Amino acid sequence: MAITQIATIIFIYIISVLSESRSDTNHVFSPCSDAKIQRSDGFTFGIAFSTKNSFYPDNNSSRVQLSPCDKRLSLSNSQIAVFRPKVDQISLLTINTSKFSPDAYGGYMVAFAGRKYAARSLPAFVANGTFTVTSFTLALEFKKGRLQNLFWKRDGCSKCSGDSNFVCLNNQDCAIKTNSCLKQGQGGSVDCSLGIQMAFSGTDKHMSVLNSWYEVKNLRQYSLYGLYSNLKDSLTSQYNKFF
Ligand SMILES: *[C@@H]1O[C@H](CO)[C@@H](O)[C@H](O)[C@H]1NC(C)=O
Ligand SMILES: *[C@@H]1O[C@H](CO)[C@@H](O)[C@H](O)[C@H]1NC(C)=O
Ligand SMILES: *[C@@H]1O[C@H](CO)[C@@H](O)[C@H](O)[C@H]1NC(C)=O
Ligand SMILES: *[C@@H]1O[C@H](CO)[C@@H](O)[C@H](O)[C@H]1NC(C)=O
Repeated sequence: MAITQIATIIFIYIISVLSESRSDTNHVFSPCSDAKIQRSDGFTFGIAFSTKNSFYPDNNSSRVQLSPCDKRLSLSNSQIAVFRPKVDQISLLTINTSKFSPDAYGGYMVAFAGRKYAARSLPAFVANGTFTVTSFTLALEFKKGRLQNLFWKRDGCSKCSGDSNFVCLNNQDCAIKTNSCLKQGQGGSVDCSLGIQMAFSGTDKHMSVLNSWYEVKNLRQYSLYGLYSNLKDSLTSQYNKFF
């Protein structure tokens, strides 16, 4: 299985805000296996970092959307992070970039889960030598408990327009200059760790509606960072400083 060869689990923090303690009945822990979830479950998915071309078969000559679990993708220089947020809870996942540089692994990421019912997102730009995007919203859409789609949700650059710390890329992503990012052995001052806001939509296996997406949509994206009291001060205070 390709994923065991390439998998390196990198720094993971899973922070759940609404910590309901209902049971997790989903016993699927691999992002390369199929799960059928209900609202109280955890759900395992992966994020792979690589070049944009390597997420398409035959070095971008085919447009087929394959999962990184699929052997037909040759992700040689890549990194995988695995997460297990609670379904239908508002969660913020973070990837600490003080030792891991997304641009050293191609600068793009896809989110994925499943085998027979594999689904994955389009590649999202994270970082190159010039710019780093640190804030993402990932929506997981289920139908009767099976994952159908993963989307990166974007709401333009309204949050950073007029802020000289940010550059707006392609009218959709707020980016920080990579050379201002705190890195081992480098002089930057900003913690450019990635924050991924989770949102769930669709229906679980009992046909209950998942609606955390509507809650996320109704809050301003960055105001959510204030909700994560457990989050490392650096990330929170950084966003407080900018917004
Ligand atoms: C993939 O294609 C790009 C240009 O389209 C080329 O620069 C690169 O060397 C190719 N990579 C491989 C592994 O063939
Ligand atoms: C990959 O292929 C698509 C469609 O053929 C093309 O639009 C895109 O520019 C290519 N990307 C790279 C980086 O070569
Ligand atoms: C980094 O990405 C941005 C936005 O896509 C692009 O304008 C810039 O030229 C890239 N820089 C490098 C060094 O690749
Ligand atoms: C990332 O790791 C560095 C070094 O361990 C730490 O100082 C920083 O607070 C961490 N950032 C986040 C967002 O957890």
